[in-house]
Amino acid sequence: MSTVISSIESATDANEKAVQSSMLNPRFYTTDFDAMDRINVSSVRQEWDQMMKEYEGDNNHDHFQRDAQFADEVALHMPQLSPEMRQEFLDFLISSLTSEFSGCILYNEIRKHVNNPDIKQLMTYMARDESRHAGFINQSLRDFGLGIDLGDLKRTKAYTFFKPKYIFYATYLSEKIGYARYITIFRHLEKNPDKRFHPIFRWFERWCNDEFRHGESFALIMRANPHLLRGGNLLWIKFFLLAVYATMYVRDHTRPMLHEAMGLNTDEYDYTVFRITTEISKQVFPLSLDTDNPQFRAGLARLFEISKANDAAKLKGGIAGRLTQAVCAVQAFWTFARLYMMDTLEHELPASTRVVPSW
Ligand SMILES: [Fe+2]
Ligand SMILES: [Fe+2]
Repeated sequence: MSTVISSIESATDANEKAVQSSMLNPRFYTTDFDAMDRINVSSVRQEWDQMMKEYEGDNNHDHFQRDAQFADEVALHMPQLSPEMRQEFLDFLISSLTSEFSGCILYNEIRKHVNNPDIKQLMTYMARDESRHAGFINQSLRDFGLGIDLGDLKRTKAYTFFKPKYIFYATYLSEKIGYARYITIFRHLEKNPDKRFHPIFRWFERWCNDEFRHGESFALIMRANPHLLRGGNLLWIKFFLLAVYATMYVRDHTRPMLHEAMGLNTDEYDYTVFRITTEISKQVFPLSLDTDNPQFRAGLARLFEISKANDAAKLKGGIAGRLTQAVCAVQAFWTFARLYMMDTLEHELPASTRVVPSW
């Protein structure tokens, strides 16, 4: 588990940061395309066709363009950032871009490799959206002279293979948690405009509706294949919920200044995002994590402490450093396992799948 943010000073550093694959950095995925090709959504046809119409309508086609004030706001605020804050913000931009581009590549690869018209059409729309998102963030990195070479990243970053069902659980969650993160920041800065230290946050409201819709697509696929949502698969759902929440918690706590600069408390922000994500995910998952349980919260705080100790050991190096890292790995494993063993909350699935983005 590595969270060391080495200083990002040049475009080379930024590109290296994006290509890194660690526990906490966004990954690139590939999957079993033949199995994807066999996905059948006919049992949710009406909801599916409605969703396809929304994609076709493309209400964000003109959203990802900078307005006249963008450059002025950048010029006003960026020189005021402390060097540490600047690093955290760059880290935030690079990891957000990598995760947007990860979706873009995965959806594009699926689109190219399947003949199933429903899946092909969905993937075309989602890749379109993610490519806009990644491109928009990259423009802001270019303002710092730190643009990421996306073609090169695609060629050089390692790919993780996930079976389609793991793609559905993980991608559904990352789309919905992405929505919850963007909307929580947007709503907060709407009330506290003096804390909006970069213009990109003004784009988050319409942006997160794309992520919400992407999540809806995976929700429909899973509801159309209900075996994915019962029996032994519940253990996988629980695993992915915990892995996604824990990763976000540790990653966010390693860059506290970013949230402080917005006037957000990292802990409160993360638990707000978990509450929203849990509420939405009841559309498809019959269980959720008890994130308000003090034992759960203590477990996440412990994971962050272990991650910090691990980073310090990594910096220290040598045999002692490596030993400490090994101890940290064992401690992280057991802390995660204890969190995994906690009781979950259970729900009945609603009759209709779709949820409205009302946060
Ligand atoms: Fe996106
Ligand atoms: Fe998305």
